[in-house]
Amino acid sequence: MTSQTPPGPPPARPDVRLSARGLVHRFGTTTALAGVDVDLHDGEALAVMGPSGSGKSTLLHCLAGILVPAAGEVTLRGAPVSRLSDRERSLLRRRRFGFVFQFGQLLPELPAQENVALPLLLLGVPRAEAVTRARQWLGWLGLGGMEERRPGELSGGQAQRVAVARALVAGPEVVFADEPTGALDRATGAEVMRVLTGATRAAGASLVVVTHDEETAAWCGRRVEVRDGRLREAPRVHPSTTATPVVAAGGGAR
Ligand SMILES: Nc1ncnc2c1ncn2[C@@H]1O[C@H](COP(=O)(O)OP(=O)(O)OP(=O)(O)O)[C@@H](O)[C@H]1O
Ligand SMILES: [Mg+2]
Repeated sequence: MTSQTPPGPPPARPDVRLSARGLVHRFGTTTALAGVDVDLHDGEALAVMGPSGSGKSTLLHCLAGILVPAAGEVTLRGAPVSRLSDRERSLLRRRRFGFVFQFGQLLPELPAQENVALPLLLLGVPRAEAVTRARQWLGWLGLGGMEERRPGELSGGQAQRVAVARALVAGPEVVFADEPTGALDRATGAEVMRVLTGATRAAGASLVVVTHDEETAAWCGRRVEVRDGRLREAPRVHPSTTATPVVAAGGGAR
């Protein structure tokens, strides 16, 4: 069989949801990203690994439109993210992205259901409906009966599941998680990853997980490694025995 591949870069896959090309970012004289290209596909869970200080969080922040890269571009379904105004990026984050961080993301004075309802309220969803949907999500994630508890009255793992519910409640296209298991023990971390990957997949969202933990990364279908601000595709070290396969949701063509 003869190759019919023309010279030049391969054509983009039709299921690219979020894409970065030539991302460069600096903090003063520190180059945090030195030219990163990466594609995130429909329904994909991508682990971003690498040593401390390698640029993982900076990459996540650029992909999510929190930071504007010094050079390069991020596109969401082909539409530029990095060239939007601050206000437009903030709206885009609210409408189309969800976030889970290591800790400190829940408002301590608000009950779990109010924390989860918040993204909906910010989008203008009426309060009763927002709370109903928040309670549904808490139930789906195994937190039925804990709706009225404040974050300080939850375990670390429960609080992270509340954070997962909050990240997903508004139907995001991409969920970004920066060290979501960083503050948890091994078993609790695995439980949070099971919930995060399962719920994200069921919701048809794609997922980016920054972690330096192998076991956390093993829940994702694909992994890349950041070294000194550059990215490389990393083969999976070992297939997880616990992770469920990531099925392309939302009509990912193959
Ligand atoms: N706000 C900032 N001001 C100055 N330098 C920063 C800032 N944020 C990050 N850096 C620097 O940019 C580089 C990349 O940082 P980044 O936070 O992306 O690393 P990381 O891979 O997420 O590390 P960790 O695993 O420790 O969270 C590091 O050298 C860091 O010191
Ligand atoms: Mg980081």
